[in-house]
Amino acid sequence: MALLNTNPTTTKAWQKLAGHYKTLKNYHLKDLFASDKERANKFTIQENGFIVDYSKNRINEETIKLLLNLADEVHLKDAIKKYFDGDIINETEGRAVLHTALRAKESDSILVDGVNIIPEIYSVKQKIRTFTEAVISGSKKGYTGKAFTDVVNIGIGGSDLGPAMVVETLKFYKNQLKMHFVSNVDGDHVYETLKELNPETTLFVVVSKTFTTQETLSNATTIKKWFLSPEFKTSETDIAKHFAAVSTNAEKIAEFGIAKENVFPMWDWVGGRFSLWSAVGLSIALAVGYDNFDKLLKGANTMDEHFKSADFSDNIPVITALLSVWYNNFFEVETEAIIPYTQYLNRFSAYLQQGIMESNGKSVDRDGNAIDYQTGTVIWGEPGTNSQHAFFQLIHQGTKIIPAEFIGFKESLYGDQDHHNKLTANFIAQTEALLNGKTKEEVLIELNAKGMSSSAIEKLAPFKVFEGNKPTTTLLINKLTPESLGSLIALYEHKIFVQGVVWNIFSYDQWGVELGKQLANTILNDINASISPNHDSSTLNILEAFKK
Ligand code: F6P
Repeated sequence: MALLNTNPTTTKAWQKLAGHYKTLKNYHLKDLFASDKERANKFTIQENGFIVDYSKNRINEETIKLLLNLADEVHLKDAIKKYFDGDIINETEGRAVLHTALRAKESDSILVDGVNIIPEIYSVKQKIRTFTEAVISGSKKGYTGKAFTDVVNIGIGGSDLGPAMVVETLKFYKNQLKMHFVSNVDGDHVYETLKELNPETTLFVVVSKTFTTQETLSNATTIKKWFLSPEFKTSETDIAKHFAAVSTNAEKIAEFGIAKENVFPMWDWVGGRFSLWSAVGLSIALAVGYDNFDKLLKGANTMDEHFKSADFSDNIPVITALLSVWYNNFFEVETEAIIPYTQYLNRFSAYLQQGIMESNGKSVDRDGNAIDYQTGTVIWGEPGTNSQHAFFQLIHQGTKIIPAEFIGFKESLYGDQDHHNKLTANFIAQTEALLNGKTKEEVLIELNAKGMSSSAIEKLAPFKVFEGNKPTTTLLINKLTPESLGSLIALYEHKIFVQGVVWNIFSYDQWGVELGKQLANTILNDINASISPNHDSSTLNILEAFKK
């Protein structure tokens, strides 16, 4: 069954939020804290090793009450049930959205077209386990009888970003296999990767849900050609030992020449950007071992259970999604920053950009009508403390409000407490600084103490004032483990879902990427053959300059 459509702006809660915003926008966070000693406790959720403190947001109890009313009025409860039950909520593609089934328990039963999909999911998991254990242990060998040392994941978008991010984030848990990711159709990316590789000991995993993606097929074809170079003394039959594939498109894989035993299926009810839990995560299981891959899935399942069962007022994905709606639609902010205080999460924003922006970058509602309110937010970020020395100036003293999510960990992985204390001090200090800012009075006292002349102080003071009142949410997680990473990713997946429900849009299609793909094919023709006159003058000029 379809989701129940509601234009959020027509709800009572929305109207009230609009009025409430007019009052609340005038309050400084400092005053909100001063007037309520219980504020931090009231606006903190603790769950499965996650502390989510959202008290440093520009909200009060009334805001949360109204946002929760909004969730009710857009039928969020009903939508969550349909999402987990496998209803066809991706209506424009006629599909269920069941990445949550990939981490469901073996005893669960989830029906698609009347068939329980759990047994098939578990049989593919078993295949992943067997395959990855053979590669890691060295019992599976290359064409000259040597064990594999390197793995190349060939895929793009969801077939690259998820596995690449998780492999990077779980580096600490990695085995001896060296992982490489080739995604861009840029040949230089391919050749730079190949230049370090020995074909005798390299396994190539071609990942493409559709197996029709230009980038992935071009890169896989180039790599196959390289593998079959006469200098390596390889033959077509060796492909079976060195190439594996993950896809829904068995026919196209067969055409490419990959042996059946190395083919890992996926299903059309798994969206590309939510697919790392499926066989798309083969590279993850190769890098950190199947058991860790399984722990990642278990962590995601823990967040799924929380999302399904917790009251909305204590529900991490629901609350964080509603806060984002509050800023996006009432404060009219354009972007949100995600700042992890661990270098391991340096690919996290890039990964979330696809999840969040491909899902919710929509301007037509679920009835096909143009929308007159804001939807998908722009997401960006880099790890702290590096980002403090890069773009934090703008967050602190720029003209824009940029709500930021700070993600930190109680424990470091190598256990150097001195470093970890410094890192965490920065993590905490930044959110405090963003909240309080620095008043002119404070600046004057500081400059006076330095013995500056009063005229110099007057001149300099305005530049040293920080307005503060900048919203942040703090996620403090016990430790970066496969489980906690699984929970963290699932949190954002559900946040995306909630926002899509509130905005009354379809979050699980991505028609917006089609036009560029079509035009790239037309332009490729212009490049390879003769330039058609059917372009604007700028495009014609660039084409001609390129071909000259
Ligand atoms: O860019 C659009 C997109 O369809 C993404 O949604 C997807 O993750 C990516 O291309 C790759 O698609 P495939 O896995 O089918 O090669």
